[in-house]
Amino acid sequence: PIEKGWLKPTMHQYQGFWFCPTRLHCVLSCQKSFQAFDTDILLVTAPKSGTTWLKALTFALINRNKYPNIHINHPLLTTNPHDLVPFCDRDFVSDFKTISHPRLYSSHLPYELLPKSVKDSTCKVIYLCRDPKDNFVSLWHFINKIRPKSSIAFPFEEAFESFCRGVSFFGPFWEHVLGYWKKSLESSEKVMFLKYEEMKMKPDFYLKEIAKFLECPFSKEEESRGMVDDILNLCSFEKLSNLEVNKIEKTSYEIENKFFFRLGQVGDWKNLLTTDMIERINTITEKKFVKHGLSF
Ligand code: A3P
Repeated sequence: PIEKGWLKPTMHQYQGFWFCPTRLHCVLSCQKSFQAFDTDILLVTAPKSGTTWLKALTFALINRNKYPNIHINHPLLTTNPHDLVPFCDRDFVSDFKTISHPRLYSSHLPYELLPKSVKDSTCKVIYLCRDPKDNFVSLWHFINKIRPKSSIAFPFEEAFESFCRGVSFFGPFWEHVLGYWKKSLESSEKVMFLKYEEMKMKPDFYLKEIAKFLECPFSKEEESRGMVDDILNLCSFEKLSNLEVNKIEKTSYEIENKFFFRLGQVGDWKNLLTTDMIERINTITEKKFVKHGLSF
């Protein structure tokens, strides 16, 4: 099925999920040819769930011995996280031959659509999700920033309807989350399931959890040297969004870096959604998630 809509002139449904035509092309080639290694680390999100933050944190974490002086010569100070951690469902043909091991890359693909080699290997998958209300609001703002200046903004109410019907990049949002939630319950050594809201509340706890999951826990000595806080500070919204590179440059795929940083907070939906909208989206979320033991 094809749908005209708020995200792109057309969106195409493939195996139950929605894609814009150019990305679908990349997804198909990734599914067909991508070869995962057992040592790979894959970061997955539905768009606007905190991909940029997760990329920065994980990059800084696994490379912490390579860049001991985090304040001076760290790549995150001069390069946007999306250019340090490529998407396997967008960039892999060009970038993946030169990437060093263990390979760190990302994807927006639903679990069901991941390349077979990712599922069959022992590579680690970290999934980050976000309250659908904030996810929708963040996506709405993002779409309005990247759309051509000449085009008219899609009505907010219609965009909301579309999102609730499941039409969003790599959506339906709820099915995207559920795929990884179920897999994380089944195989907690393969998939780590994180929530943006919880990470914002206890970032140090979750950074240490990620380190344990990736089998590179912080040593007592690293902790006493303030390594955890150093990484969190470097990857914080305030730090990254104020770096020159993230204010003026574009990613290798031509999106302005500054568009990946807006508010970086929990609960901005309260400023945009009406009471009816909140009730509608909460009802969908409860209906789909509660029976699986998941809530926001
Ligand atoms: P808001 O639009 O709510 O501010 P993604 O990285 O998946 O594209 O998601 C973008 C969202 O993550 C935006 O949310 C953005 O502001 C927020 N974000 C970007 N960098 C962040 C960081 N370092 N810490 C927390 N949130 C961040």
